[in-house]
Amino acid sequence: MTQVLLEKAPEVSLARPRIGFLGVGWIGRHRMEAILKTGMVEAAAIADPSPEMAAEAARMAPDAQLVSTLDDLLDAGVDGVVIATPSAMHAEQSIRALERGVAVFCQKPLGRDAVEAKAVVDAARRANRLLDVDLSYRFTEGMQRIREVIRSGELGHIYAVDLVFHNAYGPDKAWFYDRALSGGGCVMDLGVHLVDLALWTLNYPGVSDVSGRLFAGGEPLGSRPDKVEDYALATIGLETGTAVQLACSWRLQAGCDAMISAAFYGTEGGAALRNVNGSFYDFVAERYRGTSRETLSNPPDEWGGRAAADWAVRLAAGQRFDPAAERLVDVAQVLDRIYGR
Ligand SMILES: NC(=O)c1ccc[n+]([C@@H]2O[C@H](COP(=O)([O-])OP(=O)(O)OC[C@H]3O[C@@H](n4cnc5c(N)ncnc54)[C@H](O)[C@@H]3O)[C@@H](O)[C@H]2O)c1
Repeated sequence: MTQVLLEKAPEVSLARPRIGFLGVGWIGRHRMEAILKTGMVEAAAIADPSPEMAAEAARMAPDAQLVSTLDDLLDAGVDGVVIATPSAMHAEQSIRALERGVAVFCQKPLGRDAVEAKAVVDAARRANRLLDVDLSYRFTEGMQRIREVIRSGELGHIYAVDLVFHNAYGPDKAWFYDRALSGGGCVMDLGVHLVDLALWTLNYPGVSDVSGRLFAGGEPLGSRPDKVEDYALATIGLETGTAVQLACSWRLQAGCDAMISAAFYGTEGGAALRNVNGSFYDFVAERYRGTSRETLSNPPDEWGGRAAADWAVRLAAGQRFDPAAERLVDVAQVLDRIYGR
């Protein structure tokens, strides 16, 4: 997956790493389950201001301490923290953990902008601690296969990439619509996955130009501080000459729950990941040759918790700072440019 940089880490190699879970709402509990299922780590402590959420999470880990804050979690002597709080908190919380010598698995986005994302990566490098972000779609079987096919050179020069993520509902929690807590709308929430998929698949080529158009409620977003975008279009030019198009949205009247795809077109063929029947979870991946297609992967595929489990396994193996984390800043820089910053 990512490049493994093994170093001796005696304090985590003697016993299973002790993990603190910060924010155990919907995704926090889902990823907690995946992490604990690896059997490689121990749930040491849980912190969430919502007693209901904390109690739900505690059912998965009855021996974990229930604490109130990140500081309490860090004082519980954890080796790693899993952060799944509202997005605007991620960077600051990650840095606080890393500065205490604690590894971090953070929900996306790592920061609200590239400055924040870079500050987290710098803190991880300084502390020499494992940092990863839940860019979960990389771990679909389909994207793994597509990346292999593209990296093998079979598709020739990839000159076009089409990325789509329309969520016909949009988030059901109020904080997502408050820029101070979310950092932005559908680009921050969904566009981050798409930009990551393109750069990760194509091995992080330089980005030459980016333009974005943002809408809220069917009108140009402009510089309204009280709104976040719910529809976005972007074009991203890569230094390889590749043209990337991106569209993402919340609450688009698209006739189904979701439209999700990442299509790569090369001089020798194409390949695409597409969701099936509007599903948020089921994907097919296909390789295209002219007008014919070959299946690369089909559902079912339990991909949602794999990034989290991968981090837990690498932490338990004693992995310290992984330079692959530097690339998280590249993705944040593209998002900044989509926002016109
Ligand atoms: N990787 C993915 O594919 C993916 C999917 C869904 C959500 N996410 C991300 O996960 C994060 C959480 O999303 P969600 O839908 O689970 O939201 P949520 O509102 O269900 O969960 C957030 C939790 O954080 C808690 N919280 C708030 N402030 C806190 C603090 N200071 N300390 C500890 N806990 C705090 C809340 O009480 C809540 O339980 C978001 O950043 C979102 O972008 C990622």
